[in-house]
Amino acid sequence: MTADLTPHADRVTRSSLKALAEARASMAPLRAAGWSIDLSRQYLDADAEAALLHFGRVSGLQSAADHLFAGDIVNPSENRPALHWALRAQAELSGEAETVRQSVQPALAFARDVVSGAVTSSTGDPFNAVLHIGIGGSDFGPRLIADAFEDKASGKIDLRFCANVDPFDLDRAMHGLDPKRTLVIGVSKSFGTEETLYNLARARKWLEETVGDESQQHLALVTANADRAKAWLDGREAHVFDMPLSVGGRFSLWSAASLACMIYLGADVFEEILQGAADMDAHVRSTALEENAAMRLALLDYWNATVRNEKMRVLLAYANRLRMLPTYLQQLEMESNGKTVGPTGTPVSGATAPALWGGEGSVGQHSYHQWLHQGSQDVPCEFILAPDRDREPEGIQALTAHALAQAEVLANGRGFEDVKREEPDLSDDVARQKVHAGGRASTFLSHAKFGPKAFGALVSLYEHRTYFAGQLWHLNPFDQWGVERGKTMASRLKPAVEGSAKADDPVTSALISMITGE
Ligand code: F6P
Repeated sequence: MTADLTPHADRVTRSSLKALAEARASMAPLRAAGWSIDLSRQYLDADAEAALLHFGRVSGLQSAADHLFAGDIVNPSENRPALHWALRAQAELSGEAETVRQSVQPALAFARDVVSGAVTSSTGDPFNAVLHIGIGGSDFGPRLIADAFEDKASGKIDLRFCANVDPFDLDRAMHGLDPKRTLVIGVSKSFGTEETLYNLARARKWLEETVGDESQQHLALVTANADRAKAWLDGREAHVFDMPLSVGGRFSLWSAASLACMIYLGADVFEEILQGAADMDAHVRSTALEENAAMRLALLDYWNATVRNEKMRVLLAYANRLRMLPTYLQQLEMESNGKTVGPTGTPVSGATAPALWGGEGSVGQHSYHQWLHQGSQDVPCEFILAPDRDREPEGIQALTAHALAQAEVLANGRGFEDVKREEPDLSDDVARQKVHAGGRASTFLSHAKFGPKAFGALVSLYEHRTYFAGQLWHLNPFDQWGVERGKTMASRLKPAVEGSAKADDPVTSALISMITGE
C-alpha cells in the first residue's frame, strides 16, 4: 500500500509547496457540520491525492465506519464496541447502544437538580462549588469544556479540577472551598487509578472532618466499576453514575464523566455540545470518502506521518476558547495511535501516529513560531480559526490576519532575494538570517459561528479521524497497553523510594540516593 504512495510523495516533496498549493487553491474546502477545512497547503497534487483516496478505499474506511456505527466489536483487545457516538445520538437506538445513550440522562437530571436547588448540601444550602477529581480521559475533556465555555457558567457555582498525585494539586483545588457547600465528583472509569483514589480519599477526609457522616451527600462518583466504587464507599452512600464500559476513557467527555460541566455550565449547554457531535456523526456516517472530513484528515495523517515520515504535527488553535484543545487531543490521538503493534500482535510497518503538540494562536507566535519558521525541521501545522466572530471586530480581524499570515509564510517562505529587495539596506549577513525556508504544510479549519455545537462537532471530527487513522495504521485505537508498565513499575519502586528496599536498576537506585540525599 505505502509502496504505491511513495513515488507520489517523492515527486511532490521535490516540488515547491507554494506551487502545489496554488494549483489546489481553487479546490472547494471540505464542509462538515459547519466546519470548513482547507487542505490546499499540503504536499499533494492531483495524482497523489487520487492515489491517497484509492488507498483509503482499499483500506476499508467505509466499512470501518459501518462497523463503528453498527456497534460491532472494533476494540478487539477488550472485545467491545466503541459506543462514544451513542452518548450523543439524538434518536433512539437499540441494544447496548441505547443503554449507553440513556446513561447520560441521570447525570443531566442530577445536574439540573443541583442547579435548581432540588439537591442541596448536607446543611440544606445549595452547593456553591464542585470539585472534579479525575485524570486522563476522566479529566482532560471536562476541563476543556469548562474552560472553553466558562462565560456560560451562572457564577453561583465554582468549579475546580484536581488530577495529579502531587498533593499541591488537590491543596490548590480545595483552597478557599467550604466543605459544607462543596460537591466532590470523583471520575474514574476503572475506579482503580492511583492518582484519583489518592485524591478522592483526601477529599473524602476533608469532607468528613466538617460534615461528618453527612459527607455522602457531598460525594458523587462516576465509574464503569460500580463494585469497586461500592467497596471504596465502605458502606457509605453517594451519588453514583455510570460510565459505560464500551466508551473509552479518552472518548468519554460526552458521558457522565462531564457531570461537573453539566452542573457548572447548565445541562442545556451540555446538550448543545452533544447535538453538535451528533451533527458531525451524521456527516461521517453519510458522506462518501472523497468529501468525508474525518476520513480525509485520517488519510492526510497517514500521508504525512507514514509516507512522508513527518514525526510531528503542530496544532495551532486560533481561538482562546480552544486554548486547551491541543492538550486534550494529545491524549486522544497519541494514546490511541501511539503504537507499533496491532491487535493481533503483529508489528505494523512504517511510522504511525506523530507527536502532536501546539497551543493557542496568536500567543504561540511569541514562543515556538520562531522554531516553526526557521528551525531545522519543517513540520506540518494545523490551524483552527474559531473565535466568536460577533465579538469586538478589530480583535477578530487581527486574529484572522495572524492565522492567515502564519500559514502563508510557513508555506511560502521568504528567499534571500526577497529580503534584499524589500530591505535593501540590510547587510547580507542579516539578510540571510531573515530568510524563511517555507515549505511548511498546513491544514486550515474554520467555523463561522463557534459555540457549544461547533465544539461538539469538532471533537467528534477528531475522534473519528483518530479511529480511521488507527484503521490505516492497523492499530486498535481503543486500548492503551503502553501505560500499564509505568504504573506497575511505580508501585514496585515505592518501597525503594520510602527507603525500605533497594531498586533493582542501578541508575534508578543512584537517582533515589540523589533525590533522598538532597
Ligand atoms: O492513561 C491511562 C488511562 O487509563 C487513560 O486511558 C484513562 O483516561 C486514565 O488512565 C484514567 O483512567 P480512569 O478513568 O479509569 O481513572
